[in-house]
Amino acid sequence: MIGVQSIVGVTLLLSSAFAAPQRQNGQTAQQRAMKIPQGVSAATDGSMILDTTVNINGLPIRYKVSGPAAMFKAASQVPGAQAGPDAQSAMGVNVLLHGDGGQSFFDFPNQAVQKNLMGVAVLAPDPNLFWGGGQGLQRTDGVAHAQAVNDLMKNELPKVMAFNQSQVYFMGVSGGSLMMSGFFLPAQMKNFPGTGILLSCGGMAPQVPFQDADNVMRNTKIHYQTTVNELTSLQGSIPQAIASNEKLAMTAGLTPQQIGAMQTVDNTPAGGHCAFDEQSFVSGVQLLANGYSNIMQPGASGQVQGINAPTVLTTVVGNENPTFGPEARQKRSVETL
Ligand SMILES: *[C@@H]1O[C@H](CO)[C@@H](O)[C@H](O)[C@H]1NC(C)=O
Repeated sequence: MIGVQSIVGVTLLLSSAFAAPQRQNGQTAQQRAMKIPQGVSAATDGSMILDTTVNINGLPIRYKVSGPAAMFKAASQVPGAQAGPDAQSAMGVNVLLHGDGGQSFFDFPNQAVQKNLMGVAVLAPDPNLFWGGGQGLQRTDGVAHAQAVNDLMKNELPKVMAFNQSQVYFMGVSGGSLMMSGFFLPAQMKNFPGTGILLSCGGMAPQVPFQDADNVMRNTKIHYQTTVNELTSLQGSIPQAIASNEKLAMTAGLTPQQIGAMQTVDNTPAGGHCAFDEQSFVSGVQLLANGYSNIMQPGASGQVQGINAPTVLTTVVGNENPTFGPEARQKRSVETL
């Protein structure tokens, strides 16, 4: 869809304001998703997964959280829950925002505990399951969605899970990366100092005024991970994101060396959109999620198993424009961007 937009341009931009949600058998993607049962299940690593929905600012926010049973609180109704109502713990979380259509919410590729990070995935409160609503690079509900993600982590997740609230990390996939870079980073990241955002197969320059930019730039790790055959429109918007955030870091007084430690970029994989394993969307996102702590956590090696580079942590300074090839979409089940 985003590829189409770059060709049709203005026509689609105008029509998008009036676009009706896409339906299959009369139902939106969101309606179909809500038919999938929620509740408690086991994760791939033996952790417990809670899948539930809360109302935040009038939006239905469905999320999954995965971690050792003992980290859950009684309110979660997870068997084995032990944490007290006000408890935090030594474990942080990695919050995943899926791409258009929700594939990575259902797959939950970050469900296994990695280093000390437990997994969270959040479903976009949108009929099409697009983070930020709208479509393509026009994310018309980005402000409200970014606020909802912030409020989920600050107010709701602590009711069901004991986690270190100073270690809330993020990972966007495709459309989720557009919402994170366009809206969450400038408006909400000030509330999560000392952590980071992995922007995978997507990104755009901040779309709203940047709050507390100097501090956010000094203490937020940002990694852009894309592929050679990224979607054409993202080949345009990702470098804009890189340049904008690098400029803000310079304004904040960071030296080029300091910027290189906080803002990094890689597009080594010779694959299409999100195919970080050069094979497919789902397996590519899983590979990247498996490498999360090696990219994002303090002391990260930058080595990701399956990505053929000594490190993916290449400074953005001087590398603002990755060399791309023709776009390619990889097979996936539900994601359209
Ligand atoms: C929580 O994380 C912060 C920041 O990394 C750290 O300083 C603190 O010691 C952690 N708390 C616990 C209980 O581990």
